[in-house]
Formats: sequence, C-alpha cells, structure tokens
Amino acid sequence: MDPLPAEKSIDVLLKEKRRYPPPAAFVKAARVSGPAARARLQARGAKAPEKFWEDAARELSWDKPWRRVLEWKVPHARWFSGGKLNVAANCLDRHLDGPRRHKAAIIWEGEPGETRTLTYLQLHREVCLFASALKDLGVAKGDRVAIYLPMVPEAAIAMLACARIGAVHGVVFGGFSAESLRDRINDAGAKVVITADGGWRKGAVVRLKDAVDEAVKSAPSVTAVVVLKRTNTDVAIHEGRDHWWHRLTAKASADGPAEPLDSEHPLFILYTSGSTGKPKGVLHTTAGYLVQTAWTTKNVFDLRDTDVYWCTADVGWVTGHSYVVYGPLACGATVLMYEGAPMQPRPDRFWEIVERHRVSVLYTAPTAIRAFMKAGDEHPRGRDLSSLRLLGTVGEPINPEAWRWYRDVIGGGRCPIVDTWWQTETGAILISPLPGATPAKPGSATLPLPGVDADVVDKAGKPVPPGSGGYLVVRRPWPAMLRTIWGDDERYQAQYWSQIPGMYFTGDGARKDKDGYFWILGRIDDVLNVAGHRLSTMEIESALVGHPAVAEAAAVGRPDELLGQAVAAFVTLKGGRLPSPELKEELREHVAKAIGAIARPSEIRFADALPKTRSGKIMRRLLREVAAGRAVQGDVTTLEDLTVLAALQKDEE
Ligand code: PRX
Repeated sequence: MDPLPAEKSIDVLLKEKRRYPPPAAFVKAARVSGPAARARLQARGAKAPEKFWEDAARELSWDKPWRRVLEWKVPHARWFSGGKLNVAANCLDRHLDGPRRHKAAIIWEGEPGETRTLTYLQLHREVCLFASALKDLGVAKGDRVAIYLPMVPEAAIAMLACARIGAVHGVVFGGFSAESLRDRINDAGAKVVITADGGWRKGAVVRLKDAVDEAVKSAPSVTAVVVLKRTNTDVAIHEGRDHWWHRLTAKASADGPAEPLDSEHPLFILYTSGSTGKPKGVLHTTAGYLVQTAWTTKNVFDLRDTDVYWCTADVGWVTGHSYVVYGPLACGATVLMYEGAPMQPRPDRFWEIVERHRVSVLYTAPTAIRAFMKAGDEHPRGRDLSSLRLLGTVGEPINPEAWRWYRDVIGGGRCPIVDTWWQTETGAILISPLPGATPAKPGSATLPLPGVDADVVDKAGKPVPPGSGGYLVVRRPWPAMLRTIWGDDERYQAQYWSQIPGMYFTGDGARKDKDGYFWILGRIDDVLNVAGHRLSTMEIESALVGHPAVAEAAAVGRPDELLGQAVAAFVTLKGGRLPSPELKEELREHVAKAIGAIARPSEIRFADALPKTRSGKIMRRLLREVAAGRAVQGDVTTLEDLTVLAALQKDEE
C-alpha cells in the first residue's frame, strides 16, 4: 500500500468548523427525526447487526423466507440464505395491488426535450415483454447480458427484465469505447448485447451501435444484439444476429412470471477500475443488495410517495444501478431520468428540469455542482426551485465552498444535504448523514449508517486516534457488499480482505474527528477519481504504450478545480520520434479511443526519462508533485537519476 495522502489536504478539510443542523421544519417530518433517533438506530445496529438487517429484509416481498441471516467465513458472505425473491417483482409487481398501480414510476426527459412517463403498471408491462423477448433469444437463468444504452427508460427496462428471469446484467457506460466494451463482454462471457441506434449527448448522436459492431467482431460469446430505435440514425443491421427491440417485443408475451431466485443468485456484474490495468467485474447478488439499497434509499433520502426523486447518475455507474433503478423502484418512488448533458442546450437545463417536473429530491456529483457554480448563479436563480426539499452528493469529497453554494443557491438554505460515501463494491451507501437527524459539516460524509461497522485504522487494523489519518475499513460484512470479482476470486481476497487482516479495505484514506465524523481523504492506491469516475493509472498507461510512438508512460492525478482530479501523463518517446503539440493531441485522442472520453488526459508531458527507484519502479509520488506544480518534497534518496526530475519540472508547458 502507498503511504497516506499528504496531511496537507487533511488540514484544509479540518479548517471547516461550521456545523449545519438539519432545518427544524425538516426534522419535524423526517423518517428518522433528531439525533437521538439516529443514536437509537445506531445502537440497535451495533448491538445486533444481523437482527437490524433482518428487520430491513422484512420490508421486501419474499417467495420463500430465509433460514439464516448471515453465513460468514472471511471473505465470503451469504446473506438471507435459504430465501428466495425476485428483484424485479419487488420493484414492480408488488406495487401493482395498491395506490401505486398508476403512479409514475419513471418520468423521462430526452436531451432534445421530449418527455415520457411510465406508470408502475406500464413499466411492469414493458419489463414483462422484454423479459419474454430475452427468453425467446435463448437467454436463460444465469446467462450474462451486456447493456450498452443511453439514459432512456429502456435501460431500466432491460436491467429489470434480466432480473425478472435471473439473467445477470453487465451495464457498460455508453461513454466507454468499443475496446472497453469488448473487454467487458468477453470477461463476462455475455450472450446478448442490448444497445441503441444512438443516444443524444451535447446536441449530437453518440453512435452506440457502431461501437457494438466493432466490439462484437471479437466477442465470440455473443449470439444476438438487440437494437433500440432511439435517434433514427442509420445503422448496419447484421441479419440473423441483430434484432430491433420494437419487433421483438411486438411478438413477445406479457405474461411471464417473475422467477423466484435464491438470495445469493447473481444480479449483476459491474466493471470498475482497480490498481491494475484490467477492470474488475464486481459481482452483486440478489437479496442482500436489494435489502440495503431499499433501506438506504428510504432513509438517507427520507423518501415519500409524494417525492419526485432525481438521481442524475448514468445507469452505467453503480449509482445508476442502486439509486436510479433498484433502490427507488423497490421503494415505489417516482424516478426522474434525464438522457443528456447537464448544460445542454443552456447552462440552466438542470434547473429547468427541476422546475418543470417539480423535483423534490436531487442527488448529484460534486463535479457537477462545481461546474454549475462556475457557470453563474443567474441560471438557478432564474428558475423556480422551491419544490426541492433534500439534496445529496456522491462520488468524491465535496469542497466546503461547493457544499455551501449547493445549500444556499440550489437548496435555498432549507434543504439538508446528504454527502454519501460508498463504492461500486459496497453496493449501497455506507457512510452518510440521515437528513433529519445528523448535523452536517461541509466536506464530511459524517457517520457510518446503522448496521455498518466502518472505522479508520492503521496497517495492523488498530483504530487510530481521532484526528489521525488512517485506512478506511469495514469490519463486518454488510448485505449489499460485493461477493467476489467475476472469474477472479483470488483478486477479490487479495484486494479487499488481505491488506488489513480480517477487514474489508476500501482503498480510501480517511480521518475521524473528535465527534466521530469521517473525512474521506481519497484513494491511496493507483486509482484516480476524475469527475467522480474511477480510472486506473495503469489502464491509461497501457493505452499510451499501445501507441507506436510511446516507449514508456506514467499517469498520475493532478488536483483540478472542476474535475476534482485530472489525468496528467508523462511520456517518453521511442527513438526517432520527436515531441510536438500534434503528437500530444494524438496521444490524448488515442487514450480516449482506447478507454473512453472520460480517460482523455488533461495534460501530456514529454520527458527523456521517467524518475525511477533503483529497482526500476516509477516514482509516482514525485510525478504527482511535479504534475501539481509543487516543489518536490520528501525522500528522494532512492531516485535513480536526479537530473530526470529536474528535467521534468522544467517541461512545464
Ligand atoms: O474514493 C471514494 C470516492 O469514490 C470511490 C468509489 O468510486 P466508485 O466505485 O466509482 O463509486 C462512486 C459512487 C458510489 C470511493 O472509494 N467517493 C465516493 N463517494 C464519496 C467519495 N469520496 C468522498 N466522499 C464521498 N461522498
């Protein structure tokens, strides 16, 4: 493990001393009302965590009750074993018998401005039709299905249809390249790929089907591709392999029952970056995942039947799984979905959506908040945001300035903010305020939720004293935790359960203050957090060395006002290749093409050599400091050639 991040950043965070108790009007009506109520829940969760989660599980509909709440043998957990339920039936069928039958389940807005509303009854029908269509294509329980769609209701429909028949979905973010898609399809062994003729983003069509055609050329497991007509763009259709969504569902049956599935039946695989070049297929299963996503949606977002709930994440990320689709639909919420870019066609698009649909709960990322802040107060001020009652953030630490702007300008000072810490691996929010119960401190995700045993420890697993930096761990298993890495259980054990003996290691550094509040300090491994998205430095480096001009490359994170972190890459060229601004641009594009636009380096610096230790390891710590424009501090005695460092610092342009 790398050493902890510079203490400097911790000090900056800790200078923020102000506390913001939840507004009195909010507390009065809250599900968990006042600090004492949270303390009671917390005590229940600490005293008998299994009982706590068992009570939460009773809120779902089960086909067969569980025999054991938890079977735990480090590092493998089984939750609610012996039980059976269906996730899609919990998200849809069970709402049809009561007042939610004709309630809006999804209100969708496309980037060009059209809207669609699907009631629970209508969404249920679409899911049943598509589930039958998948079966007609030969998809059976346990088969993997790749989903590569824009943010349209069909993304949720496809996920729920898989869940209904017990197929395992793997959603791939539409911004990922054909190569990234191919790798994920192959790793999962997906049988079917679901895509669209395109999706709208920043006024242009993203040609998803072209990427699928490219990817499937070298994906032998794929027997069928389903294509949704979204943009009416011309696409190539491969007879026998490709099927239009609307044609399949036109002849499918709407009567298929939801399959009762074992609690531990795999629900989805979601790829995320780790500290090697190969993304990890994080595996989540059925019952525990739904129990905890539903509990957290209800309590962290203080959800009511009258809410219009908008989580702005794409379904390609875990936030889109847990808090656009599964958690909120299990709770019978009205979910708003928006297809496009936040400032398209104008910087007030988000606020226009809030106004038009009377959004009451808004959950978004700090990077978006910083971009809106920069765009100017006149945009939100020109819209009626009085429907908002609760705000949330996720994905990276929020700087106190952005936090206060969010509270004052967007929330009008009356909405609590929940800063939620969690990961692809945790499946559900683990550290967060409960909005009617937890005084907020801007920049802190506050306290572990009831039933969650998180702490900050040293390398031996011993808790560090308040105020000291340490490693963020979770001591006991939690229902929505990942079960393994698809096809690589060894990596699962090594990555998460071996670095600190007997505990789950998150990969984050953190510090607790004297009130027990958690301050997340960021990743301590080779994972970057760019605009709230995880990228591995190794992935970027292997893309760079795949370019014929590049001999060696090192990618590091550099602090960035808008993105949180930006990618800076140091590159040495092969003999005979000369540095040039055109080559820089070509390399940036090369990375975007290999991985996706989110990985495009903000900066490329050419160097004659990279700083290395005597054993040949690239000294990333030094490169991080060079990239940040700081004078290099700390121990450089193992550096092979000090002139290399001096040269890198000079190449500032
Ligand atoms: O470093 C933490 C940061 O995002 C990482 C998880 O990334 P990912 O798996 O892509 O999931 C993002 C959405 C859940 C964490 O290890 N992170 C996430 N939320 C916060 C955060 N850092 C600080 N504060 C947060 N609220």
